[in-house]
Amino acid sequence: MDFKTIFEPFKIKSVEPLSVTSEEQRIKYLKDAHYNPFQLHSEYVLIDFLTDSGTSAMSSKQWSAILDGDEAYAGSKSWLKMEAEIKDLTGFEHILPTHQGRAGERILYGYLGGKGKVFISNTHFDTTRANIEFSGAEAIDIPIAESQEPMAYHPFKGNMDTKKLEELINKYGRENIGGVILTVTNNSGGGQPVSMENAKQIADICRNYKVNFFLDCCRIAENSYYIKHRETGFEDKTYRQIAQEMFSLADGCIMSAKKDGLVNMGGFLALKEQHLSDECTNLLIITEGFVTYGGLSGRDMEAIAIGLREVFDADYLRYRIRSTEYLGEKLYNMGVPLIWPIGGHAVYLDAKAFYPHIPVDQYPGQSLVCELYIKGGIRSVEIGSVMFGKYDDKGKLIPAPNELVRLAIPRRVYTQSHIEYVIEVFEKLIEDKDSARGFKIIEEPKFLRHFTAKFEYV
Ligand code: F0G
Repeated sequence: MDFKTIFEPFKIKSVEPLSVTSEEQRIKYLKDAHYNPFQLHSEYVLIDFLTDSGTSAMSSKQWSAILDGDEAYAGSKSWLKMEAEIKDLTGFEHILPTHQGRAGERILYGYLGGKGKVFISNTHFDTTRANIEFSGAEAIDIPIAESQEPMAYHPFKGNMDTKKLEELINKYGRENIGGVILTVTNNSGGGQPVSMENAKQIADICRNYKVNFFLDCCRIAENSYYIKHRETGFEDKTYRQIAQEMFSLADGCIMSAKKDGLVNMGGFLALKEQHLSDECTNLLIITEGFVTYGGLSGRDMEAIAIGLREVFDADYLRYRIRSTEYLGEKLYNMGVPLIWPIGGHAVYLDAKAFYPHIPVDQYPGQSLVCELYIKGGIRSVEIGSVMFGKYDDKGKLIPAPNELVRLAIPRRVYTQSHIEYVIEVFEKLIEDKDSARGFKIIEEPKFLRHFTAKFEYV
């Protein structure tokens, strides 16, 4: 169809009412949450852009399959369905079910990691890095240089720097490389896609040096969309075929099905090689569960099997990518500074540029997050010095490289008018820009402080 309007390619069968609050109420709720939206009750949130993970709306097909879930401890038919679907999609022989992505990371990178080992990625997601470092190994990010410039256009800004990859393998020695991990799309780098050409080059390098090559593939359907529309030679392939081609380059993958699996919980680890699979299976049984359910119930596995197919639907993907872009482009045209081009699952705002009057040690990202909640009931997440800041010996803040705020869009959840409302809230934020105030942290834990830190206005 050749119309300008990108509509939601579904109709609504079941609804969840939103609680509409007043600005006065939200000021109180936010104060009670110590200005940390992770501490807000979700029922006080109108539009929840905290994450696109586990927040998808399931289809009527998924819900009906849930009733059919086989909860047998061993050999569940729901598992056989999920396994067959993942084998068909990824081409990998060995499939291990996990309760979510990070469980797969702990198993695989825990086994391959350890002191002296090095992992290399376009960008390790936080939990990937945490699992690698927890094993005693080191995690090194080598995104392409263009990814460091928020406004610079590059069709595949999520790519890995392959020259650096070869240098690092030579520097550390191939026997010390735990694995090369390609995150598609690159979440921490702004939800930016990775090209097939880049994946092929990485695969060639890994094959030459006999190094393991894994995909962190939780948004691979969204990545396939960009390959079809931005890379030559893929115009006539389906999104699923493009994903299959990328899987065929790797030795295995880890997927948090909470993203492109279109489910609220679940994941898997898929591997080519028998020996590695046997070792991981031992770890799986010790901590996740038996091989035919991992950390999942039968009904979850039913929903994953269906979600993994629905996510490659052409109308769905077009709506998905275009609706995220729509929000980003509107904000861009209103002069809101952001990461360009817009990525697949989220819009990343540049809070330092939006609030130049708030110094970095007063956390402009946190100010923007709080303003979005107070003015519009919108929940977002700071990805800046609250999340990644450290202190020097004198207790002075070592800021993060950027002060970003992520608006992550749940899949199939919000409609165009919700997005129009968000845009209107931004009009208000722009009007009141100069009155936004900075924050200080009054209490914080030692690790992952953004989840529980308490703030006060400066
Ligand atoms: N890899 C990537 C690229 C991710 O974005 C995530 C989760 C994980 C791995 C871990 O998966 O949560 O199922 O254990 N990202 C979520 C987010 C939390 O909000 O971006 P998980």
